[in-house]
Amino acid sequence: MIKSGAVKVDGISIRDRGAHVDPDTAKIEISGKPFSLEQFVYLMLNKPKGVVSATNDRNVKTVVDLAPDEMKGRNLFPAGRLDITTTGFVLLTDDGDFAHRILSPKNHIEKTYEARLAERVTEAQLKQVAEGIVLGDGTECLPAKLRVLEDGENPLVEIKICEGKYHQIKRMFAAAGNGVVELKRTRMGQLQLDPNLAEGECRKLTEDEVKLIEVRKT
Ligand code: URA
Repeated sequence: MIKSGAVKVDGISIRDRGAHVDPDTAKIEISGKPFSLEQFVYLMLNKPKGVVSATNDRNVKTVVDLAPDEMKGRNLFPAGRLDITTTGFVLLTDDGDFAHRILSPKNHIEKTYEARLAERVTEAQLKQVAEGIVLGDGTECLPAKLRVLEDGENPLVEIKICEGKYHQIKRMFAAAGNGVVELKRTRMGQLQLDPNLAEGECRKLTEDEVKLIEVRKT
């Protein structure tokens, strides 16, 4: 490929197979497509509303569409889905094993959300959700950790769960007799959504940040 001129470094075709490049800074392309020496990539996306947690969709923008162009050649996918109306932390990666590890409820990796509720929240509702609520269709949820961040007519409640059942948080509060009007994921494991990341923005995680996702709270 190098001999044929298909390999470019910083926009220039390299025909010398002995050429050296700095893997951290060189922009390498093969036949016009970005090439990376990293085995896997891990991106933090601040998902806006109206974007689906899928790899491709004919009609709606996907979380993968929000990844930088130089990442588009990789098989990125969201490690865990958020509903179209949910905002916040989505991890985009091409590391299937890592995704499996952080999503499996057996590994107890907490996902933290902030839920704005439709009505005043009662102690009984908080207790039911915290103890492990049974949803309307009989699905059993594991216990959740709850903390009221703002009280009032439309309270803001922080909730931590280790599972990712379909519409789980909305259905948990519905089963307890309340509703969720806004939902944002703020943390995965011990890694906080970067407050400097505007909705729709994405950035690569450092090795230390990736490790924080796998940290279990004891
Ligand atoms: N629970 C929900 O109801 N929706 C999400 O997007 C994530 C968790």
